[in-house]
Amino acid sequence: MSSLTNKRILLGVTGGIAAYKSADLVRRLQDAGARVQVVMTAAAQEFITPLTMQALSGNPVHTNLLDPAAEAGMGHIQLARWADLVLIAPASADFIARLVQGQADDLLTTLCLATPAPIAVAPAMNQGMWRNASTQANVDVLKQRKIHVFGPAAGEQACGDIGLGRMLEALQLVEATASLFVSGSLAGKKVVITAGPTREAIDPVRYISNHSSGKMGYALAQAAVEAGAQTVLISGPTQLAAPERVECISVITAEEMLTASLQHALGCDVFIAAAAVADYRPAQIAVHKIKKNADAESMLLELVKNPDIVATIAALEKKPFTVGFAAESENLIAYAQGKLTRKNLDLVIANNIADAGIGFNADENAVTVIDKEYQQVLTQRSKQQLARDLIALIAQKIAD
Ligand code: C5P
Repeated sequence: MSSLTNKRILLGVTGGIAAYKSADLVRRLQDAGARVQVVMTAAAQEFITPLTMQALSGNPVHTNLLDPAAEAGMGHIQLARWADLVLIAPASADFIARLVQGQADDLLTTLCLATPAPIAVAPAMNQGMWRNASTQANVDVLKQRKIHVFGPAAGEQACGDIGLGRMLEALQLVEATASLFVSGSLAGKKVVITAGPTREAIDPVRYISNHSSGKMGYALAQAAVEAGAQTVLISGPTQLAAPERVECISVITAEEMLTASLQHALGCDVFIAAAAVADYRPAQIAVHKIKKNADAESMLLELVKNPDIVATIAALEKKPFTVGFAAESENLIAYAQGKLTRKNLDLVIANNIADAGIGFNADENAVTVIDKEYQQVLTQRSKQQLARDLIALIAQKIAD
């Protein structure tokens, strides 16, 4: 179950007697490590109260599309972007029909249209309604659109009928949800990722560094391990816990990061440089704390260039598929293309750090992926979702 660690599940609850099972589902998803936000349709609230779901999820429940308070906080577009998966359980016959139509007349249908995350539905309805040709045609459309359909199960129903139409049990839904995050696309491959900032000492108490949180690199490591890769994460100082099943090597300076990278990149299939490496370090590290000079209004610090880690790896005789980042505030594509050529990279992931709310230190990112032949825009989404999309893209590239 550990593959739901830190996954953001947006649980949509629609109107059906199985809605009572959603309360248990919230708990089970959380037990498996997921973070859960709940959206309820008007019909769902006839069966179970938002207060119950709020108490269980620990978050306010979202019920209205046009709610000024919610729009000022976590509005429908933010919620749509927040999700790593939208899971609708129970999904009524009516909701499935409205999803197929692409309606956007309530919060949940609107979210489903807006989200870049995958969607899964767990149908729950009377067996006659499930067997009905309209429902079956609607479910076929959902499957064609790559919407996951979990169940339904057969058995006795609330109305006394026996047949297909019962919602899967909470634990079965958690398992089905977890399986969506395991892709296997990098099975048998070794991936090495650098992440976080580096810290370059000036004296025993001071250093030069930057605001990199490491979130993107850690999310990539998690996505790589979920895709089946043996994953090594070489990380500068961050506040983040290493993802499970990832070998994490902690380093402080750019030189330490280079040494660890060279050691682990030999024989690896993919090297991803997500670290924000300090370009320069002090030429000398003072042995003792540098004292303030009462007579001087300024001081000079001599810096020397740090090694370029990703370029060093890309210059290896047996070069792995090498991916770099380009965080730019202007001329995004031109600068990224320059890096691709100059550093001999196979792929550059470019993001515009002038955009507020994405990139450096944020929870979301939007990027343009560039190689010698093509450019692809991945619109704004959570760093976890973006990481999975990038890993899928890289897996495809190395398989070609
Ligand atoms: O040249 P610039 O720092 O903009 O390049 C960014 C890319 O190069 C990132 O992928 C970063 O991890 C990598 N890099 C590196 N070693 C450095 C500087 C940057 O690996 N010394």
